[in-house]
Amino acid sequence: MAILITGGCGYIGSHTCLELLSAGYDIVVVDNYYNSKPEALKRVKELSGKEFPFYECDIRDEEGMNAVFAKHKIDAVIHFAGLKAVGESVEKPMMYYDNNVNGTLVLWRAMKNNGCSRIIFSSSATVYGSENASPLKEDLPTGAVTNPYGRTKYVIEEILKDICVADKDASAVLLRYFNPVGAHASGRIGEDPNGIPNNLMPFLLQVAIGKREKLSVFGNDYDTHDGTGVRDYIHVVDLAKGHVKAVEYALSHTGATPINLGTGTGYSVLDMVTSFERITGVPVPHVIAPRRPGDIATCYSDPSKAKELLGWEAEKTLEDMCLDSWRWQSQNPKGYDE
Ligand code: NAD
Ligand code: WQD
Repeated sequence: MAILITGGCGYIGSHTCLELLSAGYDIVVVDNYYNSKPEALKRVKELSGKEFPFYECDIRDEEGMNAVFAKHKIDAVIHFAGLKAVGESVEKPMMYYDNNVNGTLVLWRAMKNNGCSRIIFSSSATVYGSENASPLKEDLPTGAVTNPYGRTKYVIEEILKDICVADKDASAVLLRYFNPVGAHASGRIGEDPNGIPNNLMPFLLQVAIGKREKLSVFGNDYDTHDGTGVRDYIHVVDLAKGHVKAVEYALSHTGATPINLGTGTGYSVLDMVTSFERITGVPVPHVIAPRRPGDIATCYSDPSKAKELLGWEAEKTLEDMCLDSWRWQSQNPKGYDE
């Protein structure tokens, strides 16, 4: 029995590979290195003390994917492979629809061709759009998304739901991540963004290490406790453990099941900055800047369905998120480029 991980060399994928190996699963990894480096999986092997097969393959390469399935008996797929930059998706929508949506269609065909019909999909809280109030529950309407990236996640969820209606053997766990941050406690694997980071934590870390001068806090006039945007930050190791539980669920259930992976607690941008400074002792120069177009005031999960169905809940604290992020950043100032 083996689990195939697409995009397993990336930020969340590499942490999930490690947790699956610790839980005793055999894994097979596919990645095209579009947004990752071989060093990440080298370190996963070091940390776990285990070897596993890796294929440099694009998920849209149907022949290549069929060859992977032909070589291994795959029981379920965790599907991380995708593009994730919101701004870029507005500039290049076709690239996002082709990679994310078409990629998932090709992957599913290769799975079915080879007798595998269980998928755990990396969805996002972004599918809840701008019109629902937090705490966000899985039965709220989805689809009022504000950018092509979000639309790919919504469309893929709908495709997988349709497939599960038509195919009674199919199982799709649609994991809606909130805001993943942090790194493995060893400081050996973490997030290694290309270029200027879009997300708060990687930008904050680059300011803390002196690579960037200051953090812009996008808006301080939202209807929140201090006026800055509130999000549900979740430690990537908790998130990775949620995937191990989701594999167990997918192996024993059919149908499409959306599940939030969040903590249920919201922190503001200024909460994050001041907590990081207090916990690490490292200053983060910051200025208030205009709101970022497309942002909403508040977004946090109702995490009760994950607890009920998967027996999973986030365990790590904001302190862990800050300390582990900082350990990764300070020990690897150039990311995986040593
Ligand atoms: P990441 O970019 O670090 O990892 C994605 C991996 O997929 C990369 O290693 C990349 O090289 C690979 N990849 C991309 N397209 C591919 C293709 N066509 N064929 C093969 N490999 C391909 O991103 P991440 O943060 O680890 O996110 C993983 C998944 O979770 C993505 O689908 C993302 O949309 C989703 N997600 C991420 C966040 C977040 O904030 N990080 C939040 C919600 C959802
Ligand atoms: C968090 C907060 C910003 C940067 C995005 C995607 C979402 C999901 C996770 C994939 C907001 C503020 C940020 C900065 C700031 N990804 N901020 N200065 O926007 O909640 O979600 O990543 O699925 O789809 O939209 O995350 O980290 O960009 O922002 O003040 O330099 O930090 O305004 O309030 P977001 P984020």
